[in-house]
Amino acid sequence: MAGDKTVDTTGLLGWIDRRFPLTKLFKEHMSEYYAPKNFNFWYFFGSLALLVLVIQVVTGIFLVMNYKPDAKLAFDSVEYIMREVPWGWLIRYMHSTGASMFFVVVYLHMLRGMFYGSYRKPRELVWIFGVAIFLCLMAEAFMGYLLPWGQMSYWGAQVIVNLFSAIPFIGPELSIWIRGDYVVSDATLNRFFALHVIAVPLVLIGLVVAHIIALHEVGSNNPDGVEIKEGPKDRYGRPVDGIPFHPYYSVHDIVGVAGFLIVFAAILFFAPEMGGYFLEFNNFIPADPLKTPPHIAPVWYFTPFYSMLRATTADFTWILAGSSVLAAIVLFAKGGLKGAWRLAVPVGLLILALLFRTIDAKFWGVVIMGGAVVILGFLPWLDSSPVKSIRYRPGWHKALYAIFIVNFLMLGYLGTQAPNDLFNLLSQIGTVIYLAFFLVMPVWSRLGTFKPVPDRVTFRPH
Ligand code: HEM
Repeated sequence: MAGDKTVDTTGLLGWIDRRFPLTKLFKEHMSEYYAPKNFNFWYFFGSLALLVLVIQVVTGIFLVMNYKPDAKLAFDSVEYIMREVPWGWLIRYMHSTGASMFFVVVYLHMLRGMFYGSYRKPRELVWIFGVAIFLCLMAEAFMGYLLPWGQMSYWGAQVIVNLFSAIPFIGPELSIWIRGDYVVSDATLNRFFALHVIAVPLVLIGLVVAHIIALHEVGSNNPDGVEIKEGPKDRYGRPVDGIPFHPYYSVHDIVGVAGFLIVFAAILFFAPEMGGYFLEFNNFIPADPLKTPPHIAPVWYFTPFYSMLRATTADFTWILAGSSVLAAIVLFAKGGLKGAWRLAVPVGLLILALLFRTIDAKFWGVVIMGGAVVILGFLPWLDSSPVKSIRYRPGWHKALYAIFIVNFLMLGYLGTQAPNDLFNLLSQIGTVIYLAFFLVMPVWSRLGTFKPVPDRVTFRPH
Protein backbone atom coordinates (compact mmCIF):
# COMPACT_ATOMS: atom_id res chain seq x y z
CA MET A 1 0.00 0.00 0.00
CA ALA A 2 2.80 2.34 -0.87
CA GLY A 3 1.65 5.95 -0.91
CA ASP A 4 -1.35 5.65 1.47
CA LYS A 5 -0.58 8.04 4.38
CA THR A 6 -3.25 6.50 6.66
CA VAL A 7 -1.56 3.12 6.67
CA ASP A 8 1.24 2.20 9.05
CA THR A 9 4.08 1.10 6.80
CA THR A 10 6.31 -0.21 9.59
CA GLY A 11 6.65 -3.76 10.89
CA LEU A 12 5.63 -6.99 9.22
CA LEU A 13 2.23 -5.68 8.12
CA GLY A 14 3.92 -2.67 6.51
CA TRP A 15 6.35 -4.99 4.77
CA ILE A 16 3.45 -7.05 3.39
CA ASP A 17 1.34 -3.99 2.52
CA ARG A 18 4.13 -2.58 0.39
CA ARG A 19 4.03 -5.79 -1.62
CA PHE A 20 0.39 -6.97 -1.37
CA PRO A 21 -2.74 -4.85 -0.65
CA LEU A 22 -3.64 -6.72 2.56
CA THR A 23 -4.76 -3.72 4.64
CA LYS A 24 -6.44 -2.19 1.60
CA LEU A 25 -8.46 -5.37 0.99
CA PHE A 26 -9.33 -5.70 4.68
CA LYS A 27 -10.58 -2.12 4.73
CA GLU A 28 -12.52 -2.41 1.49
CA HIS A 29 -14.28 -5.63 2.40
CA MET A 30 -14.41 -5.53 6.18
CA SER A 31 -13.68 -2.45 8.27
CA GLU A 32 -14.77 0.13 5.69
CA TYR A 33 -17.50 -1.86 4.02
CA TYR A 34 -20.64 -0.10 5.18
CA ALA A 35 -23.58 -2.44 5.55
CA PRO A 36 -27.12 -1.28 6.44
CA LYS A 37 -27.61 -1.21 10.20
CA ASN A 38 -31.00 -2.98 10.08
CA PHE A 39 -29.90 -6.51 9.10
CA ASN A 40 -32.03 -9.20 10.71
CA PHE A 41 -31.97 -12.97 11.22
CA TRP A 42 -32.24 -13.57 7.46
CA TYR A 43 -28.85 -11.98 6.91
CA PHE A 44 -27.06 -14.77 8.76
CA PHE A 45 -27.32 -17.22 5.89
CA GLY A 46 -24.69 -15.75 3.55
CA SER A 47 -21.92 -16.13 6.11
CA LEU A 48 -23.33 -19.52 7.12
CA ALA A 49 -23.15 -20.66 3.49
CA LEU A 50 -19.49 -19.63 3.53
CA LEU A 51 -18.97 -21.60 6.74
CA VAL A 52 -20.57 -24.74 5.26
CA LEU A 53 -18.47 -24.34 2.12
CA VAL A 54 -15.34 -24.41 4.27
CA ILE A 55 -16.63 -27.40 6.28
CA GLN A 56 -17.29 -29.31 3.04
CA VAL A 57 -13.89 -28.55 1.55
CA VAL A 58 -11.97 -29.45 4.71
CA THR A 59 -13.91 -32.65 5.51
CA GLY A 60 -13.81 -33.56 1.80
CA ILE A 61 -10.02 -33.40 1.77
CA PHE A 62 -9.84 -35.79 4.74
CA LEU A 63 -12.37 -38.17 3.17
CA VAL A 64 -10.36 -38.36 -0.04
CA MET A 65 -7.37 -39.59 1.99
CA ASN A 66 -9.15 -42.92 2.55
CA TYR A 67 -11.84 -43.09 -0.10
CA LYS A 68 -11.24 -45.29 -3.19
CA PRO A 69 -12.88 -44.18 -6.45
CA ASP A 70 -13.21 -47.69 -7.79
CA ALA A 71 -16.51 -49.53 -8.32
CA LYS A 72 -15.08 -52.59 -6.53
CA LEU A 73 -13.70 -50.71 -3.55
CA ALA A 74 -15.77 -47.52 -3.11
CA PHE A 75 -18.54 -48.89 -0.86
CA ASP A 76 -16.09 -50.75 1.38
CA SER A 77 -13.76 -47.77 1.58
CA VAL A 78 -16.63 -45.67 2.97
CA GLU A 79 -17.38 -48.41 5.52
CA TYR A 80 -13.66 -48.46 6.36
CA ILE A 81 -13.76 -44.70 6.95
CA MET A 82 -16.82 -45.14 9.19
CA ARG A 83 -15.47 -48.04 11.24
CA GLU A 84 -11.68 -48.09 11.14
CA VAL A 85 -10.26 -44.66 10.40
CA PRO A 86 -9.79 -42.68 13.65
CA TRP A 87 -12.56 -40.05 13.72
CA GLY A 88 -13.51 -41.13 10.20
CA TRP A 89 -17.19 -41.45 11.19
CA LEU A 90 -17.15 -37.83 12.35
CA ILE A 91 -15.56 -36.55 9.15
CA ARG A 92 -17.98 -38.54 7.00
CA TYR A 93 -21.07 -37.47 8.95
CA MET A 94 -19.88 -33.86 8.90
CA HIS A 95 -19.63 -34.07 5.12
CA SER A 96 -22.98 -35.82 4.59
CA THR A 97 -24.80 -33.58 7.10
CA GLY A 98 -22.94 -30.59 5.62
CA ALA A 99 -24.37 -31.37 2.18
CA SER A 100 -27.95 -31.19 3.47
CA MET A 101 -27.24 -28.18 5.65
CA PHE A 102 -25.71 -26.42 2.64
CA PHE A 103 -29.06 -26.64 0.91
CA VAL A 104 -31.01 -25.63 4.06
CA VAL A 105 -28.83 -22.54 4.39
CA VAL A 106 -28.82 -21.69 0.68
CA TYR A 107 -32.60 -22.12 0.32
CA LEU A 108 -33.13 -19.73 3.24
CA HIS A 109 -30.53 -17.35 1.78
CA MET A 110 -32.38 -17.33 -1.56
CA LEU A 111 -35.74 -16.90 0.15
CA ARG A 112 -34.37 -13.82 1.93
CA GLY A 113 -33.36 -12.43 -1.47
CA MET A 114 -36.90 -12.99 -2.71
CA PHE A 115 -38.50 -11.40 0.36
CA TYR A 116 -36.47 -8.24 0.19
CA GLY A 117 -36.10 -7.91 -3.59
CA SER A 118 -32.32 -8.27 -3.21
CA TYR A 119 -32.06 -9.43 -6.83
CA ARG A 120 -33.27 -6.12 -8.22
CA LYS A 121 -31.23 -3.29 -9.64
CA PRO A 122 -28.33 -2.83 -8.90
CA ARG A 123 -27.87 -6.39 -7.56
CA GLU A 124 -28.85 -8.38 -10.67
CA LEU A 125 -25.35 -9.82 -11.08
CA VAL A 126 -25.10 -10.73 -7.39
CA TRP A 127 -28.25 -12.77 -7.93
CA ILE A 128 -27.15 -14.28 -11.25
CA PHE A 129 -23.88 -15.42 -9.70
CA GLY A 130 -26.06 -16.85 -6.92
CA VAL A 131 -28.18 -18.85 -9.36
CA ALA A 132 -24.98 -20.15 -11.03
CA ILE A 133 -23.74 -21.15 -7.55
CA PHE A 134 -27.01 -22.96 -6.93
CA LEU A 135 -26.65 -24.89 -10.21
CA CYS A 136 -23.06 -25.82 -9.34
CA LEU A 137 -24.13 -26.87 -5.88
CA MET A 138 -26.75 -29.18 -7.36
CA ALA A 139 -24.18 -30.70 -9.74
CA GLU A 140 -21.71 -31.06 -6.88
CA ALA A 141 -24.23 -32.79 -4.61
CA PHE A 142 -25.47 -35.06 -7.39
CA MET A 143 -21.96 -36.26 -8.28
CA GLY A 144 -20.90 -36.59 -4.66
CA TYR A 145 -23.89 -38.82 -4.02
CA LEU A 146 -22.63 -41.44 -6.49
CA LEU A 147 -19.34 -41.85 -4.64
CA PRO A 148 -20.46 -44.13 -1.74
CA TRP A 149 -21.64 -46.53 -4.49
CA GLY A 150 -24.75 -47.66 -2.60
CA GLN A 151 -28.01 -48.72 -4.24
CA MET A 152 -29.44 -45.18 -4.18
CA SER A 153 -26.17 -43.69 -5.42
CA TYR A 154 -26.18 -46.05 -8.35
CA TRP A 155 -29.85 -45.97 -9.32
CA GLY A 156 -30.28 -42.28 -8.64
CA ALA A 157 -27.42 -41.53 -11.05
CA GLN A 158 -28.85 -44.01 -13.54
CA VAL A 159 -32.26 -42.28 -13.53
CA ILE A 160 -30.88 -38.75 -13.77
CA VAL A 161 -28.27 -39.46 -16.46
CA ASN A 162 -30.94 -41.33 -18.46
CA LEU A 163 -32.98 -38.12 -18.52
CA PHE A 164 -30.49 -36.65 -20.96
CA SER A 165 -31.42 -39.35 -23.45
CA ALA A 166 -34.85 -37.66 -23.77
CA ILE A 167 -33.25 -34.72 -25.61
CA PRO A 168 -34.17 -35.01 -29.30
CA PHE A 169 -31.44 -36.12 -31.73
CA ILE A 170 -28.38 -35.92 -29.48
CA GLY A 171 -29.91 -37.36 -26.27
CA PRO A 172 -28.89 -41.05 -26.42
CA GLU A 173 -25.29 -40.28 -27.39
CA LEU A 174 -25.12 -37.48 -24.84
CA SER A 175 -26.09 -39.75 -21.96
CA ILE A 176 -23.49 -42.35 -23.03
CA TRP A 177 -20.91 -39.57 -23.21
CA ILE A 178 -21.78 -38.41 -19.69
CA ARG A 179 -21.61 -41.93 -18.24
CA GLY A 180 -18.65 -43.04 -20.32
CA ASP A 181 -20.48 -46.33 -20.70
CA TYR A 182 -23.90 -47.75 -21.59
CA VAL A 183 -24.84 -47.92 -17.91
CA VAL A 184 -23.50 -46.20 -14.81
CA SER A 185 -20.19 -47.97 -14.20
CA ASP A 186 -16.65 -47.64 -12.92
CA ALA A 187 -15.92 -45.10 -15.68
CA THR A 188 -18.83 -42.96 -14.42
CA LEU A 189 -17.62 -43.23 -10.84
CA ASN A 190 -14.13 -42.08 -11.83
CA ARG A 191 -15.24 -39.03 -13.75
CA PHE A 192 -17.83 -38.04 -11.13
CA PHE A 193 -15.06 -38.32 -8.54
CA ALA A 194 -12.77 -36.02 -10.55
CA LEU A 195 -15.55 -33.50 -11.07
CA HIS A 196 -16.76 -33.69 -7.46
CA VAL A 197 -13.40 -33.27 -5.75
CA ILE A 198 -11.77 -30.67 -7.93
CA ALA A 199 -13.52 -29.28 -11.02
CA VAL A 200 -16.89 -28.24 -9.58
CA PRO A 201 -15.49 -27.01 -6.23
CA LEU A 202 -13.04 -24.78 -8.13
CA VAL A 203 -15.86 -23.25 -10.16
CA LEU A 204 -18.01 -22.98 -7.04
CA ILE A 205 -15.34 -21.14 -5.07
CA GLY A 206 -14.66 -18.83 -8.06
CA LEU A 207 -18.37 -18.04 -8.29
CA VAL A 208 -18.63 -17.36 -4.55
CA VAL A 209 -15.73 -14.89 -4.82
CA ALA A 210 -17.43 -13.20 -7.80
CA HIS A 211 -20.72 -13.16 -5.85
CA ILE A 212 -19.14 -11.30 -2.94
CA ILE A 213 -17.09 -8.93 -5.12
CA ALA A 214 -20.28 -8.01 -7.01
CA LEU A 215 -22.14 -7.52 -3.73
CA HIS A 216 -19.43 -5.27 -2.30
CA GLU A 217 -19.38 -3.22 -5.49
CA VAL A 218 -23.06 -2.27 -5.17
CA GLY A 219 -23.53 -2.66 -1.41
CA SER A 220 -25.93 -4.85 0.56
CA ASN A 221 -29.67 -4.57 0.40
CA ASN A 222 -31.65 -4.74 3.68
CA PRO A 223 -35.08 -5.75 5.00
CA ASP A 224 -36.56 -2.37 4.02
CA GLY A 225 -35.20 -2.49 0.47
CA VAL A 226 -33.97 1.10 0.96
CA GLU A 227 -30.69 2.04 -0.77
CA ILE A 228 -28.47 3.42 1.97
CA LYS A 229 -26.05 4.86 -0.61
CA GLU A 230 -28.84 7.08 -1.89
CA GLY A 231 -29.74 8.26 1.64
CA PRO A 232 -28.01 10.92 3.78
CA LYS A 233 -24.23 10.75 4.24
CA ASP A 234 -21.96 11.94 7.07
CA ARG A 235 -19.16 14.47 6.55
CA TYR A 236 -16.81 11.70 5.40
CA GLY A 237 -19.28 10.69 2.70
CA ARG A 238 -20.29 7.48 4.52
CA PRO A 239 -23.99 6.52 4.50
CA VAL A 240 -25.47 7.33 7.91
CA ASP A 241 -27.59 4.19 7.80
CA GLY A 242 -24.49 2.05 7.28
CA ILE A 243 -22.16 0.53 9.88
CA PRO A 244 -18.70 -0.97 9.25
CA PHE A 245 -19.02 -4.69 8.54
CA HIS A 246 -16.10 -5.26 10.88
CA PRO A 247 -16.45 -5.33 13.86
CA TYR A 248 -20.24 -4.98 13.94
CA TYR A 249 -21.37 -7.69 11.56
CA SER A 250 -18.31 -9.92 11.93
CA VAL A 251 -19.27 -10.22 15.61
CA HIS A 252 -22.99 -10.37 14.83
CA ASP A 253 -22.40 -13.26 12.42
CA ILE A 254 -20.71 -15.24 15.20
CA VAL A 255 -24.14 -15.47 16.86
CA GLY A 256 -25.46 -17.08 13.68
CA VAL A 257 -22.47 -19.40 13.54
CA ALA A 258 -23.01 -20.46 17.18
CA GLY A 259 -26.72 -21.15 16.54
CA PHE A 260 -25.90 -23.05 13.38
CA LEU A 261 -23.21 -25.17 15.04
CA ILE A 262 -25.63 -26.18 17.81
CA VAL A 263 -28.13 -27.45 15.24
CA PHE A 264 -25.37 -28.99 13.11
CA ALA A 265 -23.83 -30.83 16.06
CA ALA A 266 -27.25 -32.01 17.28
CA ILE A 267 -27.95 -33.61 13.89
CA LEU A 268 -24.43 -34.94 13.56
CA PHE A 269 -24.37 -36.67 16.93
CA PHE A 270 -28.00 -37.68 17.37
CA ALA A 271 -29.60 -38.09 13.94
CA PRO A 272 -27.01 -38.12 11.13
CA GLU A 273 -29.35 -40.10 8.88
CA MET A 274 -32.23 -37.76 9.72
CA GLY A 275 -34.78 -40.52 9.39
CA GLY A 276 -33.52 -41.42 5.91
CA TYR A 277 -33.70 -37.85 4.60
CA PHE A 278 -30.00 -36.96 4.88
CA LEU A 279 -28.66 -40.48 4.31
CA GLU A 280 -31.14 -42.77 2.58
CA PHE A 281 -31.51 -46.26 4.07
CA ASN A 282 -31.15 -47.95 0.68
CA ASN A 283 -27.72 -46.43 0.35
CA PHE A 284 -26.39 -48.69 3.08
CA ILE A 285 -26.75 -51.55 0.57
CA PRO A 286 -23.88 -51.85 -1.96
CA ALA A 287 -24.74 -50.88 -5.56
CA ASP A 288 -26.15 -53.79 -7.54
CA PRO A 289 -26.53 -53.05 -11.27
CA LEU A 290 -28.79 -56.12 -11.58
CA LYS A 291 -31.29 -55.15 -8.88
CA THR A 292 -33.38 -51.98 -9.21
CA PRO A 293 -34.75 -50.77 -5.84
CA PRO A 294 -38.58 -50.60 -5.82
CA HIS A 295 -38.62 -46.88 -5.07
CA ILE A 296 -35.90 -44.53 -6.29
CA ALA A 297 -35.96 -41.05 -4.80
CA PRO A 298 -33.26 -38.40 -4.76
CA VAL A 299 -32.12 -36.71 -1.55
CA TRP A 300 -34.67 -34.21 -0.12
CA TYR A 301 -33.06 -31.08 -1.60
CA PHE A 302 -33.72 -32.28 -5.14
CA THR A 303 -37.23 -33.58 -4.56
CA PRO A 304 -39.21 -30.37 -5.36
CA PHE A 305 -37.62 -30.38 -8.82
CA TYR A 306 -37.91 -34.16 -9.12
CA SER A 307 -41.66 -33.83 -8.45
CA MET A 308 -41.94 -31.40 -11.35
CA LEU A 309 -40.15 -33.91 -13.56
CA ARG A 310 -42.53 -36.71 -12.58
CA ALA A 311 -45.56 -34.43 -12.91
CA THR A 312 -44.85 -33.89 -16.60
CA THR A 313 -46.77 -36.80 -18.05
CA ALA A 314 -48.35 -36.94 -21.55
CA ASP A 315 -51.67 -35.67 -20.02
CA PHE A 316 -49.89 -32.76 -18.43
CA THR A 317 -48.52 -31.59 -21.79
CA TRP A 318 -52.16 -30.78 -22.67
CA ILE A 319 -52.15 -28.22 -19.85
CA LEU A 320 -48.82 -26.84 -21.04
CA ALA A 321 -50.05 -26.62 -24.64
CA GLY A 322 -53.36 -25.04 -23.51
CA SER A 323 -51.55 -22.45 -21.39
CA SER A 324 -49.29 -21.53 -24.32
CA VAL A 325 -52.29 -21.04 -26.62
CA LEU A 326 -54.04 -18.95 -23.95
CA ALA A 327 -50.92 -16.83 -23.42
CA ALA A 328 -50.63 -16.34 -27.21
CA ILE A 329 -54.25 -15.13 -27.42
CA VAL A 330 -53.95 -12.81 -24.40
CA LEU A 331 -50.66 -11.29 -25.61
CA PHE A 332 -51.98 -10.76 -29.11
CA ALA A 333 -55.32 -9.31 -27.97
CA LYS A 334 -53.82 -6.99 -25.34
CA GLY A 335 -51.30 -5.61 -27.83
CA GLY A 336 -48.79 -4.83 -25.08
CA LEU A 337 -45.86 -5.92 -27.29
CA LYS A 338 -44.22 -3.53 -29.72
CA GLY A 339 -43.31 -3.85 -33.42
CA ALA A 340 -42.39 -7.27 -34.78
CA TRP A 341 -42.76 -8.81 -31.28
CA ARG A 342 -46.54 -8.27 -31.45
CA LEU A 343 -46.82 -11.18 -33.90
CA ALA A 344 -43.58 -13.07 -33.27
CA VAL A 345 -44.22 -13.86 -29.58
CA PRO A 346 -47.79 -15.22 -30.00
CA VAL A 347 -46.70 -17.26 -33.05
CA GLY A 348 -43.73 -18.59 -31.06
CA LEU A 349 -46.11 -19.62 -28.27
CA LEU A 350 -48.39 -21.43 -30.73
CA ILE A 351 -45.41 -23.35 -32.13
CA LEU A 352 -44.39 -24.18 -28.56
CA ALA A 353 -47.92 -25.49 -27.90
CA LEU A 354 -47.54 -27.79 -30.91
CA LEU A 355 -44.14 -29.00 -29.74
CA PHE A 356 -45.55 -29.75 -26.27
CA ARG A 357 -47.83 -32.28 -27.93
CA THR A 358 -45.40 -33.73 -30.46
CA ILE A 359 -42.15 -34.23 -28.52
CA ASP A 360 -42.05 -36.92 -25.80
CA ALA A 361 -43.35 -35.75 -22.39
CA LYS A 362 -40.13 -37.03 -20.77
CA PHE A 363 -38.22 -34.34 -22.63
CA TRP A 364 -40.59 -31.64 -21.37
CA GLY A 365 -40.19 -33.01 -17.87
CA VAL A 366 -36.44 -32.39 -18.15
CA VAL A 367 -37.06 -28.92 -19.60
CA ILE A 368 -39.45 -28.03 -16.78
CA MET A 369 -37.13 -29.37 -14.11
CA GLY A 370 -34.18 -27.38 -15.51
CA GLY A 371 -36.36 -24.38 -16.32
CA ALA A 372 -37.64 -24.28 -12.73
CA VAL A 373 -34.09 -23.47 -11.62
CA VAL A 374 -33.05 -21.31 -14.57
CA ILE A 375 -36.17 -19.13 -14.27
CA LEU A 376 -34.79 -17.88 -10.95
CA GLY A 377 -32.07 -16.11 -12.93
CA PHE A 378 -34.74 -14.01 -14.65
CA LEU A 379 -36.31 -12.85 -11.41
CA PRO A 380 -34.72 -9.36 -11.60
CA TRP A 381 -36.68 -8.77 -14.81
CA LEU A 382 -39.85 -10.64 -13.93
CA ASP A 383 -40.55 -8.63 -10.78
CA SER A 384 -42.02 -5.28 -11.73
CA SER A 385 -43.25 -4.24 -8.31
CA PRO A 386 -42.66 -0.55 -7.52
CA VAL A 387 -41.06 -1.52 -4.18
CA LYS A 388 -38.31 -4.00 -3.35
CA SER A 389 -39.14 -5.32 0.08
CA ILE A 390 -42.12 -7.49 0.93
CA ARG A 391 -42.66 -5.17 3.93
CA TYR A 392 -44.17 -2.52 1.67
CA ARG A 393 -46.13 -4.79 -0.63
CA PRO A 394 -49.88 -5.42 -0.47
CA GLY A 395 -51.04 -8.07 2.03
CA TRP A 396 -52.07 -10.47 -0.73
CA HIS A 397 -48.52 -10.44 -2.15
CA LYS A 398 -47.42 -11.81 1.22
CA ALA A 399 -50.11 -14.48 0.87
CA LEU A 400 -48.73 -15.38 -2.59
CA TYR A 401 -45.23 -15.80 -1.14
CA ALA A 402 -46.70 -18.00 1.61
CA ILE A 403 -48.47 -20.14 -1.02
CA PHE A 404 -45.24 -20.35 -3.00
CA ILE A 405 -43.33 -21.62 0.05
CA VAL A 406 -46.00 -24.15 1.10
CA ASN A 407 -46.26 -25.32 -2.51
CA PHE A 408 -42.47 -25.79 -2.75
CA LEU A 409 -42.48 -27.81 0.49
CA MET A 410 -45.40 -29.87 -0.81
CA LEU A 411 -43.52 -30.62 -4.04
CA GLY A 412 -40.51 -31.55 -1.93
CA TYR A 413 -42.57 -34.00 0.14
CA LEU A 414 -44.26 -35.52 -2.90
CA GLY A 415 -40.88 -36.10 -4.54
CA THR A 416 -39.84 -38.33 -1.63
CA GLN A 417 -42.94 -40.52 -1.95
CA ALA A 418 -43.79 -43.38 -4.30
CA PRO A 419 -46.15 -42.02 -6.97
CA ASN A 420 -49.91 -42.64 -6.92
CA ASP A 421 -52.85 -40.94 -8.68
CA LEU A 422 -53.51 -38.38 -5.93
CA PHE A 423 -49.83 -37.50 -5.52
CA ASN A 424 -49.40 -37.15 -9.29
CA LEU A 425 -52.32 -34.74 -9.45
CA LEU A 426 -50.94 -32.73 -6.54
CA SER A 427 -47.49 -32.61 -8.20
CA GLN A 428 -49.10 -31.30 -11.36
CA ILE A 429 -51.00 -28.60 -9.47
CA GLY A 430 -47.81 -27.75 -7.58
CA THR A 431 -45.82 -27.47 -10.83
CA VAL A 432 -48.42 -25.12 -12.31
CA ILE A 433 -48.36 -22.96 -9.16
CA TYR A 434 -44.54 -22.85 -9.14
CA LEU A 435 -44.27 -21.86 -12.81
CA ALA A 436 -47.21 -19.45 -12.73
CA PHE A 437 -45.73 -17.65 -9.71
CA PHE A 438 -42.76 -16.63 -11.88
CA LEU A 439 -44.28 -16.43 -15.35
CA VAL A 440 -47.22 -14.25 -14.29
CA MET A 441 -45.04 -12.18 -11.95
CA PRO A 442 -44.64 -9.30 -14.45
CA VAL A 443 -48.41 -8.82 -14.08
CA TRP A 444 -49.25 -9.62 -10.46
CA SER A 445 -46.19 -7.97 -8.93
CA ARG A 446 -47.35 -4.49 -10.01
CA LEU A 447 -50.95 -4.87 -8.80
CA GLY A 448 -52.39 -3.80 -5.44
CA THR A 449 -51.87 -0.98 -2.99
CA PHE A 450 -48.26 -0.55 -1.93
CA LYS A 451 -47.22 1.05 1.35
CA PRO A 452 -44.99 4.14 1.19
CA VAL A 453 -41.30 3.21 1.44
CA PRO A 454 -39.44 5.30 4.08
CA ASP A 455 -36.40 7.39 3.06
CA ARG A 456 -34.29 5.84 5.79
CA VAL A 457 -34.08 2.24 6.99
CA THR A 458 -36.25 1.40 9.99
CA PHE A 459 -34.07 0.59 12.97
CA ARG A 460 -34.86 -0.02 16.62
CA PRO A 461 -31.73 -0.15 18.81
CA HIS A 462 -31.84 -3.14 21.16
C1 HEM B 1 -22.19 -21.22 -1.66
C2 HEM B 1 -23.28 -20.50 -1.69
C3 HEM B 1 -23.35 -19.04 -1.33
C4 HEM B 1 -22.52 -18.30 -0.55
C5 HEM B 1 -21.26 -18.76 0.19
C6 HEM B 1 -23.05 -16.97 -0.50
C7 HEM B 1 -22.50 -15.92 0.21
C8 HEM B 1 -23.08 -14.69 0.40
C9 HEM B 1 -22.67 -13.70 1.35
C10 HEM B 1 -21.50 -13.88 2.34
C11 HEM B 1 -23.50 -12.64 1.24
C12 HEM B 1 -23.48 -11.38 2.12
C13 HEM B 1 -24.19 -11.68 3.43
C14 HEM B 1 -25.69 -11.80 3.29
O1 HEM B 1 -26.30 -10.93 2.67
O2 HEM B 1 -26.25 -12.81 3.79
C15 HEM B 1 -24.43 -12.92 0.18
C16 HEM B 1 -25.42 -12.07 -0.27
C17 HEM B 1 -26.33 -12.37 -1.28
N1 HEM B 1 -26.49 -13.60 -1.90
FE1 HEM B 1 -25.34 -15.23 -1.62
N2 HEM B 1 -24.18 -16.90 -1.28
C18 HEM B 1 -24.41 -18.15 -1.80
C19 HEM B 1 -25.44 -18.52 -2.63
C20 HEM B 1 -26.41 -17.67 -3.12
C21 HEM B 1 -27.49 -18.05 -3.99
C22 HEM B 1 -27.73 -19.49 -4.45
C23 HEM B 1 -28.20 -16.92 -4.27
C24 HEM B 1 -29.42 -16.74 -5.13
C25 HEM B 1 -29.77 -17.49 -6.11
C26 HEM B 1 -27.59 -15.81 -3.56
C27 HEM B 1 -28.02 -14.50 -3.60
C28 HEM B 1 -27.53 -13.48 -2.80
C29 HEM B 1 -28.01 -12.12 -2.79
C30 HEM B 1 -29.14 -11.53 -3.67
C31 HEM B 1 -27.27 -11.42 -1.85
C32 HEM B 1 -27.43 -9.96 -1.45
C33 HEM B 1 -28.46 -9.91 -0.37
C34 HEM B 1 -28.77 -8.54 0.16
O3 HEM B 1 -27.90 -7.67 0.10
O4 HEM B 1 -29.92 -8.39 0.65
N3 HEM B 1 -26.50 -16.32 -2.88
N4 HEM B 1 -24.16 -14.18 -0.31
